[in-house]
Amino acid sequence: MLGIQGLSFQDINTLLDLADDYVDQNRQVDKKSSSLRGRTQINLFFEASTRTQSSFELAGKRLGADVMNMSVSTSAIKKGESLIDTAMTLNAMRPDLLVVRHPDSGAVALLSQKVGCGVVNAGDGTHEHPTQALLDALTIRRRLGRIEGLRIAVCGDILHSRVARSNIHLLTALGASVRVIGPPTLMPGGIEALGATAFTSMREGLEGCDVVMMLRIQMERMTGSFIPSTREYFHLYGLDYEKLAYAKPEALVMHPGPMNRGVEIDSLVADDVDRSLIREQVEMGVAVRMAVLDALSRHLPNQ
Ligand code: NCD
Repeated sequence: MLGIQGLSFQDINTLLDLADDYVDQNRQVDKKSSSLRGRTQINLFFEASTRTQSSFELAGKRLGADVMNMSVSTSAIKKGESLIDTAMTLNAMRPDLLVVRHPDSGAVALLSQKVGCGVVNAGDGTHEHPTQALLDALTIRRRLGRIEGLRIAVCGDILHSRVARSNIHLLTALGASVRVIGPPTLMPGGIEALGATAFTSMREGLEGCDVVMMLRIQMERMTGSFIPSTREYFHLYGLDYEKLAYAKPEALVMHPGPMNRGVEIDSLVADDVDRSLIREQVEMGVAVRMAVLDALSRHLPNQ
């Protein structure tokens, strides 16, 4: 599971339907089932993560797998071991599933060619973050009943965002009309070739939108000065009630987290229980990751 690009309409819907069932399971007292019983899942995160890593861990455990979190900061990677050597070492321990996050685009695909188990991309550089897009879609589908025909805006640091790329692929595949909004310095060339329409003004871009998805300003990926100041950025692109009013009256607000409150989103909007889906997104994250791990494990050899 390396990206949304390449998945069919049918693949995406099958995963979302499966995840829907896991939402129900996760709301029971007994949250466990056994489809990954006997399997070993290793989470290998070369970048910081709260939501993604913990939800993959819970997902594996709720499906009955043995889950190990490799701590990159205390591993031999710190001694200079290459990505491929680390992958080969873990592979020799015969895991069934590897969940990998890496700062370089394409690193997870490269690693997947060197190991004999299922591999899930938990975010590779600025390329893709497929399970985030799936959980976003599940959140929207459960609240609004459909994806097809919706107008959805993805706003902010599009240039550095793997969340934006995976969402453009997924939402357009399901028939939504996707807009990307951000300052010209954070708008990648060629983004419209992926099927989105680009805007540099929140007022124009948000018009008629059903969903407004905000992105974090990814300072850690910036090599130069992309925005004049965070205050200026909030003034032009930060989502407050004034800008939200450009969208449809009932428009819903999303953010993959972690949020920079007061930079890309106003706290009042983020915490608005009627408009913000941010808490639901986190809940859907566990169910979607269970669906992905379960679906992948069905393709693993049984002996
Ligand atoms: C995103 C990521 O890591 O790409 N976070 C996440 O997985 N919830 C977005 C981000 O870091 O801003």
